[in-house]
Amino acid sequence: MAPTQDALYADLDLELSWSERDLPERERTRHVHRLHPYLGKFIPQLVEVLLTRYFRPGQHVLDPFAGSGTTLVQALESGLDATGADVAAFNCLLMEVKTRAYNPFVLEQDLRAAHARVGETTAERPSTYVRRWFATQAARELLGFRALVEDYEHADVLRVVLTRAARSARRTTHFDLDFPSEPCRKPYWCYKHRRECRPVETSAQFLRRYTLDTLARLKEFARVRARGRAVSVIHGDMRELELGRFDGVLTSPPYPGLIDYHEQHRYAYELLGLDDRRELELGPAAAGTSRVALANYSDGIVAALQNARESLPKNAPFVIVVNDRRDLYPDILERAGLRLEERLRRHVNRRTGRRAGEFFEDVLIAR
Ligand SMILES: C[S@@+](CC[C@H](N)C(=O)[O-])C[C@H]1O[C@@H](n2cnc3c(N)ncnc32)[C@H](O)[C@@H]1O
Repeated sequence: MAPTQDALYADLDLELSWSERDLPERERTRHVHRLHPYLGKFIPQLVEVLLTRYFRPGQHVLDPFAGSGTTLVQALESGLDATGADVAAFNCLLMEVKTRAYNPFVLEQDLRAAHARVGETTAERPSTYVRRWFATQAARELLGFRALVEDYEHADVLRVVLTRAARSARRTTHFDLDFPSEPCRKPYWCYKHRRECRPVETSAQFLRRYTLDTLARLKEFARVRARGRAVSVIHGDMRELELGRFDGVLTSPPYPGLIDYHEQHRYAYELLGLDDRRELELGPAAAGTSRVALANYSDGIVAALQNARESLPKNAPFVIVVNDRRDLYPDILERAGLRLEERLRRHVNRRTGRRAGEFFEDVLIAR
């Protein structure tokens, strides 16, 4: 029998559950949290509460599956140092760009200069991927921007602007931006806007808009980050990384069969020539959820948590946010040598109609 509404909500941790009205999108995507789309991040306010509950300012938090860097950004806001590891090179680039301490004058100069040059083109021949996924003019403008990036000290910031613009300028429908399988070349009926929409022809408008938006977001974050705190980003497979010393872990691990973390930013790997290590991803969607896939996933997470554990003092907190609907984590934690101390439930507020429905996740506190 399906649980009643009351039973569903009975054991909720209300401090970790927000409604759309309590926490509108604008707040969830404040400053650098909206520097680039990333499917599968947790919300900054959740991280903020968990850092306050389980850590103290001045401590050093490790996120072994750091993704788009939500833990790192919030650690800087809450006065902690942080280290983030991720196997996906684009995620590491994004985290670096979000968390670096910039010279605001040079940053502003660089981004405004690049903004003035949007529209410059090169004679470079586009790759097969670029020809397939972008209209001719859109590709010219993107490759022109890519060519000018190297002229600036803040080339990495401009690289993230480039990939964000590329994502928007792909030949896709508006409702299939996450994992489009085929380019869309003709006008189409758009479920999102409830009218006929057309695939994008140019990218200069996105390059201009995102250059200024990125500048504004980095400046906004500079105003709220604590002084004297630092972030390190490590690119690699968490099962094998050599780490420093930390006071605890706060993370949301990948979950089996849900998301391909490299594939969601395929355009970035193609345009920036980044190192693709997708075969090392734990629980990729492409591997499915067969018994073998789930066993490989569990073994991988156990090895990653064991590795993290070796860098922490005894009894340090492991705060793990996960929608463990297969109940894999009690066993994973035990095998990793961790003791599950608390399991908190939170209500996840799903926004869009296409993914509507009740959705809960757990926050596991282990030591
Ligand atoms: C759920 S996401 C984390 C999202 C993050 N909490 C945020 O807010 O952006 C899980 C991350 O684990 C990374 N990952 C998967 N396998 C990994 C491995 N073997 N080592 C390190 N990171 C890995 C993925 O690339 C992905 O970015």
